[in-house]
Amino acid sequence: MSLVSGPGRGGADDDKLPEELMLSVDQHVKYIQSLDTRKDELEYWLTEHLRLNGLYWGLTALHLLGHPEALPRDDVLTFVLSCMHDNGGFGAAPGHDAHMLYTVSAVQILTTLDGFDELEQKVPGGKAKIGRYIANLQDRETGAFAGDEWGEKDTRFLYGALNALSLMHLLDAVDVDKAVHHVAACANFDGGYGAGPGAESHSGQVFTCVGALTIAGRSDLIDRDRLGAWLSERQLPNGGLNGRPEKLEDVCYSWWVASSLAMIDRLHWISADRLQAFILKCQDAELGGIADRPGDAVDVFHTVFGIAGLSLIGHPGLEEVDPAYCMPKAVTRRALGGR
Ligand code: FPP
Ligand code: ZN
Repeated sequence: MSLVSGPGRGGADDDKLPEELMLSVDQHVKYIQSLDTRKDELEYWLTEHLRLNGLYWGLTALHLLGHPEALPRDDVLTFVLSCMHDNGGFGAAPGHDAHMLYTVSAVQILTTLDGFDELEQKVPGGKAKIGRYIANLQDRETGAFAGDEWGEKDTRFLYGALNALSLMHLLDAVDVDKAVHHVAACANFDGGYGAGPGAESHSGQVFTCVGALTIAGRSDLIDRDRLGAWLSERQLPNGGLNGRPEKLEDVCYSWWVASSLAMIDRLHWISADRLQAFILKCQDAELGGIADRPGDAVDVFHTVFGIAGLSLIGHPGLEEVDPAYCMPKAVTRRALGGR
């Protein structure tokens, strides 16, 4: 199965792809599988602080590639549960401090693998514990969320909280109205959103704010045309997307920007063909995986967001992705019931 467009899907006149960049799904699957077998490499240990996030990125990429079996389910669940703390939060790896972002990744993996029974077997009441850990990170005055008990508030954490709680059907544990009010206060005159009220618009934060409002069922609060215009200006002549004006294109923004456009029904405001050509050029033709831009070293973060971006724009052979969760739609449909 080729990860490039089939006949009739082209149209990127100035972006014809060289033959050697046409990779197979198998190469990407092998690249992701190899990540766990490289424990003798320095890079493996330098990225230990991201391990649980990395597992979510790799697993999601594999599901979107149509190879959900490529990582052993039992080993993945055992590792995830070994990262859980008594307070219900998860660290990046065993023995690492608990944090919202790792807890969200854990919930996303448990949801994807339908592993909540295993959680309850190991930790009775475990799901409710996770819910309480997340709920305790909400500032009940402002509705905002912190990443951990000491950390700054940021819309990334608010989004993560609504993502994980909704997947567990525990949204009632937090003040969703206050959270929505806080997100609305992060909107800027240019239509974008920042990390907090008054902060500069940034596509990553736009994703978190639009995702949070979508999950909360309050996307009516978004100025779709103004935001759609700002997001579509993120596409550069080479087809790639950037995070803010004057910045370089980067494959991960294929996700932050395109998923936001999809959530506000404006994905057709950018050129899918030119974006597709850009993402495909960022593949490692020999070893699989996707980099931030052509010629750079690949990593699992840009691999998942490149594949998820391709899925959003309807690339053939990929499973459909849910733009609000960055998970396979089949999974969120099962977890949420009929989305
Ligand atoms: C850019 O970061 C991206 C963001 C600010 C959004 C991050 C979102 C999350 C962590 C929420 C969890 C996401 C999912 C998909 C479940 P950057 O630091 O790379 O920005 P830069 O390009 O400006 O350096
Ligand atoms: Zn990036």
